[in-house]
Amino acid sequence: MPKSKSPKTPRNAFYAQSGGVTAVINASAAGVIEACRKHKKHIGKLYAGRHGIVGALTEDLIDTGKESSEAIKALRHTPSGAFGSARYKLKGIDQDRAKYERLIEVFKAHDIGYFFYNGGNDSMDTAHKVSKIGAELGYPVVCVGVPKTVDNDLPITDCCPGFGSVAKYVAVSTREAALDVASMARTSTKVFILEVMGRHAGWIAAAAGLAGKGPKDAPHIILFPEITFDREKFLAKVKNSVETAGYCVVVVSEGVKDANGKFLADAGTQDAFGHTQLGGAAPEIARIVKEGLGYKYHWAVADYLQRAARHIASKTDVEQAYAVGKAAVEYAIKGQNAVLPVIVRKSSKPYRWEIRSAPIEAVANVEKKVPRHYVTADGFGITAACRRYLEPLIAGEDYPPFKNGLPEYVKLKNAPVRRKLKTNFKV
Ligand code: F6P
Repeated sequence: MPKSKSPKTPRNAFYAQSGGVTAVINASAAGVIEACRKHKKHIGKLYAGRHGIVGALTEDLIDTGKESSEAIKALRHTPSGAFGSARYKLKGIDQDRAKYERLIEVFKAHDIGYFFYNGGNDSMDTAHKVSKIGAELGYPVVCVGVPKTVDNDLPITDCCPGFGSVAKYVAVSTREAALDVASMARTSTKVFILEVMGRHAGWIAAAAGLAGKGPKDAPHIILFPEITFDREKFLAKVKNSVETAGYCVVVVSEGVKDANGKFLADAGTQDAFGHTQLGGAAPEIARIVKEGLGYKYHWAVADYLQRAARHIASKTDVEQAYAVGKAAVEYAIKGQNAVLPVIVRKSSKPYRWEIRSAPIEAVANVEKKVPRHYVTADGFGITAACRRYLEPLIAGEDYPPFKNGLPEYVKLKNAPVRRKLKTNFKV
């Protein structure tokens, strides 16, 4: 056990990015770092994990103190995970004791008393486990989650930082591609299919619905993971759209399943959390259209383009991402262990929100899906209620600075912290 210290003595902090990155996860990092720099009385140095928790286990720490305030400010407009992220699972303390002991060894060596974990539901599971090392293994650490996920599937919070920007990119791209296919449709392409991420939740697919102003506008069909794919119903809708509007824009979620519960887009691999890697629903839908109706088509998989698209980020999203980072530090210095900041909607028009704390346990491993009343009766579109929910989340622009026609993003020094332990740890 470390010598017990008065709470007034500053202790160091550790920050890690976890899971799939987003266009605004670095804005949360900026929120954490700038808040830590303000609270020097409580927090000494802030270390980041190189590649998330893997950096903690391998004692590969980054000294954020070596970065200038300009560089940290620029993180706010830089996509991706500036310190590197990780998909790395920690089992329970009983099953993975050696890893927790190693974490404690590294934390002790660097006097880390605060742990900030920036991630989605799987990551909150890890954060929840780490929050118990004080009670179960006797090492005092205040563990606070920082929410993020483009999938928007965390419960309790109104939305998840990262989602608003991916939603905006997808809505913008759908609107633009729809104009393209409308121009070509008379003599050429009749169907355009866009595949979006979101795993088992159709929030990103739903956001594509914002591209159209009414039921006749594109996208004509949204395929949600929450609605079982029905080939015949789908083909009939495509045909009707081509015959009435002249063309058909389809947005398909990577998580769409057929009646046997099989993903249309099973890429055949799994990640550390046992999730099937998805990707390939669009070409499968294109094949079905070709086979069933013979129309000329184009398809696109938005893939990493959508979650890296900082150039068209939502201003609301950037502000919320920064705010949760800052709030996490404020909770930590009050000694609130095992919590995370969540966004509470006060009103939709105008959109007003505030940050509150919630227990990490209530968020870990829970997936919030698109509710049925957000999907139209035919299963292919979004309702007015869904539109009311989504619209404020994509509101506003927060362009990065541009130079020579390209966005100027920051590359941090990511200076390593001198190792103190003799032992290596294999992850
Ligand atoms: O969880 C976020 C997410 O972007 C999902 O929408 C997507 O299925 C997954 O990550 C992709 O993960 P990876 O980059 O590890 O393949």
